[in-house]
Amino acid sequence: MINIEGVSKRFGSNIILDGIDLRIAPGEVVSILGPSGSGKSTLIRCINGLEKLDGGTISVDGHRVDDPKGLQLARRCSGTVFQLFNLYPHMTALQNVTLAPIEVLKMPRARAEQAARELLASVGLGERAGLYPSQLSGGQRQRIGICRALAMQPRYLLLDEVTSALDPEMTAEVLAILGKLARSGTTMLFVTHEIEFAREISDRIVFLDGGRLLADLPAAQFFAPDGGLAQPRIAQFLSKMNKS
Ligand SMILES: Nc1ncnc2c1ncn2[C@@H]1O[C@H](COP(=O)(O)OP(=O)(O)O)[C@@H](O)[C@H]1O
Ligand SMILES: [Mg+2]
Repeated sequence: MINIEGVSKRFGSNIILDGIDLRIAPGEVVSILGPSGSGKSTLIRCINGLEKLDGGTISVDGHRVDDPKGLQLARRCSGTVFQLFNLYPHMTALQNVTLAPIEVLKMPRARAEQAARELLASVGLGERAGLYPSQLSGGQRQRIGICRALAMQPRYLLLDEVTSALDPEMTAEVLAILGKLARSGTTMLFVTHEIEFAREISDRIVFLDGGRLLADLPAAQFFAPDGGLAQPRIAQFLSKMNKS
């Protein structure tokens, strides 16, 4: 379980996260929607221990991220994929995926490579294992980024706008993979602007605005006129997104 309790974060005098409470249980898919600048990425970075909390606590499977020992253990539990492809440019797809299992998990190379080949095949890139990031499309790189996270066998997959830099065709490729993962029971915390997709795959939808959590509802209820849509801020956001 990822347990976020009363979390606040400031940058200077700006309050970026303002008392966030959120729990993600194993097997759940939770999407985070919200306007740009609402604090979505900051929340993901707090879960990773990349930002220090100013208040509240976050624990991942009981490991507190504000404690150095706890953070190390917490990071083992979750894999993160960010918006920009942060693959190592001097390594092939296969090497990018096997690096952490070999270095961190001390997995024998042959086993790591076999697992990586299976992962790459599962995202349709079995034939591309030997290519470098510069030889691959954005959608292919992002699928490798997902494989790299999955290679560490995380209990939780954190995804921060992983399709925002992609054109519609590549977005569809990546969403297809994420849909498959969601249906196979992968626990996911999914920051996205793909509203329709979020509606399809999520157990719950969370709405952030100005660092506050305005809604945390089952997906169907989030989109219901007497549910999330009853909140003017959410209705306004969704109608704007539908027009764009
Ligand atoms: N390192 C930082 N220093 C100062 N302000 C920051 C920093 N990172 C993010 N912010 C501010 O925090 C707010 C939330 O940012 P972010 O979490 O990236 O929002 P989102 O991902 O929802 O678009 C924004 O106003 C942003 O400018
Ligand atoms: Mg962001």
